[in-house]
Amino acid sequence: MTHICMLAAENDVIPGGKVGGIGDVVRDIPKALARQGATVTVLVPAYGAFHQITGASPVGVCTAVFRGRTERIEIYELFTGRDAGVRYLVAHHPLFASGGKGRIYCNDDANQPFATDANKFALFCVASLRALKEDLISSVDVLHLHDWHTGLAAALLKYDPDFQSLKPLKVVFSIHNLALQGIRPFAEHESSLQAWFPHLLYNHAELADPRWQQCVNPIATAIRIADVVHTVSPTYATEIVQANDQARGFHGGEGLERDLQQAAGQGRLTGIINGIDYDAPLAARLGWSEFMQAAADDMLRLMARRPDLRSLDYVAHQRLLRWQQEARPAHIITGVGRLTDQKMALLLQPLPDGSIPLDIMLDALKGRGMLLLLGSGDAELEQHCRTIAARHEHFLFLNQYSETLSNLLFANGDLFLMPSSFEPCGISQMLAMRQGQPVLAHAVGGLCDTISDKVDGFLFSGESMPSQATRMLERLNEVLQLREKRPDDFREIAERAQAQRFEWHDSASRYLSELYS
Ligand code: GLC
Repeated sequence: MTHICMLAAENDVIPGGKVGGIGDVVRDIPKALARQGATVTVLVPAYGAFHQITGASPVGVCTAVFRGRTERIEIYELFTGRDAGVRYLVAHHPLFASGGKGRIYCNDDANQPFATDANKFALFCVASLRALKEDLISSVDVLHLHDWHTGLAAALLKYDPDFQSLKPLKVVFSIHNLALQGIRPFAEHESSLQAWFPHLLYNHAELADPRWQQCVNPIATAIRIADVVHTVSPTYATEIVQANDQARGFHGGEGLERDLQQAAGQGRLTGIINGIDYDAPLAARLGWSEFMQAAADDMLRLMARRPDLRSLDYVAHQRLLRWQQEARPAHIITGVGRLTDQKMALLLQPLPDGSIPLDIMLDALKGRGMLLLLGSGDAELEQHCRTIAARHEHFLFLNQYSETLSNLLFANGDLFLMPSSFEPCGISQMLAMRQGQPVLAHAVGGLCDTISDKVDGFLFSGESMPSQATRMLERLNEVLQLREKRPDDFREIAERAQAQRFEWHDSASRYLSELYS
């Protein structure tokens, strides 16, 4: 029986354990693997909070040498026995709470990107390997690392003589998002490889960033060292072996394409699509007035949790109540996602004539439909959306993070919008499809692998960013016309979207045969 130990920054099994899609994957894949006979141990940092969750039980203490000092790291198990074959562990050390209790990622300023997070994840990497070495996690066959946060574990395993005994471990590295690489200097900074592991002897070229030779790149390191490199969709694996091309609006290897080509050439790169949990209860499809009321209720609940009343929340809440009094618009367009450039650039970047695609979209929707956008994230993008919401009555910008609101939008929209500039896999499109809401998406990455144009959804593409945005707007008009003129055809597309299945069971079989065997 294979025992896989996963190291990650997020795990949505734990309340508060998720920021993005990586948390969903780490929540779901261990259970799916266990159902096929594997044993899985998942370890994430406790961030000063998770080890205090009711029922957390101490597993033991390991020590790790970090910054030349011996540190004690406490390992706790959560939800013992809840899921057969899976153990959920968290590692507690005060450094893991350096961004504040319960906070997973910190935003360092631009002159020292990733510094705080890189410190805590460097300790997490060495602590995890020590937990394996000291048998707090025993009889492991595969070490499965997720994204840059855990990439340095591959280097420590290879170069730190302390981990000689762990050498037989097979190392698998999953890329969830190449846009974040966690690059730090090799030396001369309190957040650098030299500061963390002053005695480590390593091959500089194997750890260095391809562009900045004085910097260590944890994701590049893991790509070079891992036995298998995995991307979360097959199409993303084919995109990242190509260089980014700004003129074409193309996101590829983000500077790591040569390393990825090499991995592919050695047969070490493979793409397996993520799944979603089809056993999770479906959200109800509500009547118009109930839908608006439910959204307003949740907005109010979220507003009450804040010490201040933000005018933007107040406006959104008022608009929901006002719309509740009106007839249902013909088209309800929805969007759910973190407000990052990845997800928002095609909506917000000005076209050559200075106009904003989202403005044009809203003009086209006027009198026909409304747009409900749920998301929070980058402060500048939030501000941009607020300004646009002030101009358009039928744009409801819900600047929140809320599962309740997400589910309401997945279940009650007519068309889900996902114009990501790149998308390693994407989960929201699958959640919307499951609820019978077809998706209009940019034909990139996992969106290509989960949506078939005109069969169970709608795709657009273009040869530059402005042409992508233009095609998105044209395509939206075509889809709205289809809904108006040939509603039966649209309904069939929606039904096929609802019938599509992206089962974790299938992904898990491929993990076992292609990543772990
Ligand atoms: C990242 C990617 C997203 C993917 C998720 C889970 O968040 O941006 O596309 O679905 O990881 O793998």
